Amino acid sequence: ESSNPNPDPNSQEALLQELPRERFWEAMDICKWEGFWFEPGLVKPAMTFRSSFEARCDDVLLASTMKTGTTWLKALCLCIMHNQCSNAEKEGEDILTKDSPHFHVQTVETTIYATKPHPDLHSMPSPRLFHSHLPYNLLPDSIKNSDCKIVYIARNPKDTLVSLWHFFNSILRPNQEPFPLEKAVERFCNGVHQYGPFFDHVLQYWLESQKRPQKILFLKYEELKRDPKGQAKRLASFLGRPFTEEEQVDKVLWRCSFERLENLEVNKKGSVLYAVPNSCYFRVGAVGDWKNYLTPEMEEMLNQTTLMKLQGSGLDL
Ligand code: A3P
Repeated sequence: ESSNPNPDPNSQEALLQELPRERFWEAMDICKWEGFWFEPGLVKPAMTFRSSFEARCDDVLLASTMKTGTTWLKALCLCIMHNQCSNAEKEGEDILTKDSPHFHVQTVETTIYATKPHPDLHSMPSPRLFHSHLPYNLLPDSIKNSDCKIVYIARNPKDTLVSLWHFFNSILRPNQEPFPLEKAVERFCNGVHQYGPFFDHVLQYWLESQKRPQKILFLKYEELKRDPKGQAKRLASFLGRPFTEEEQVDKVLWRCSFERLENLEVNKKGSVLYAVPNSCYFRVGAVGDWKNYLTPEMEEMLNQTTLMKLQGSGLDL
């Protein structure tokens, strides 16, 4: 890693000011920190997280870049951990009906550290469940070096791009024409987008998961769709909470299904993250929706970039 984490607010501000900047979709500034692009407002919370977070060995960190299935992963892990850690399940309580998965499992740099510079994470009962969109190289050393577990979710780049395009069109350009898709493809391939480059993000976690499979579980959105039971069992076992009955698996999968979550009142209204309605996290929830949007040229550009970036890594997306 090229720079030391810096907890001092003045030096954080000075560093932030020096970072290279670009305009994202002619609508917002993004800046490049340690090889990745971020909305400037996230950088200081991310720096503080990186320099001050103290991991516990039973913490679980969920990680992903944007639009790869974070909401689904949060819901699944929440059900797996919550059901077996509290009496709630016995009492028939389903935590997912109480609030959005993004409320229950907060994203460290956009909610936890963004709202308070010194959040009280000590009083949170164990096992703590967090999420981050940060790339592996920017995680706190205490996460990398302790026994806490990381679950990463990746997704096919073409579906990720189409999902990202819809998401940012609705957030950044609600009453305007959508941002030209060909330009969005180009920016995605160049890596100039929030938490991009996508390929570097995925690769970092992939390579680390290959080195330390006990520490990092690497999931794919498409595999979860194709074999939900098998993947949910893999996830629960990795978290040290294997399912004991087959019907538990079915129940968790049903509770976390797109169709159910999308229709829960808590996900239809309100927002956990400022300016992002909870409903924006649910759109189609399918594999291959990119076919409805991308021209053969766009497809080719994404395929070529994927090939070039992932070549030799053993990762197929
Ligand atoms: P689409 O835009 O392709 O529909 P994230 O949660 O990382 O922001 O990713 C959002 C994507 O996951 C969206 O994809 C969304 O519809 C999909 N999604 C959300 N909840 C889901 C669920 N329970 N099951 C499957 N897909 C889900």
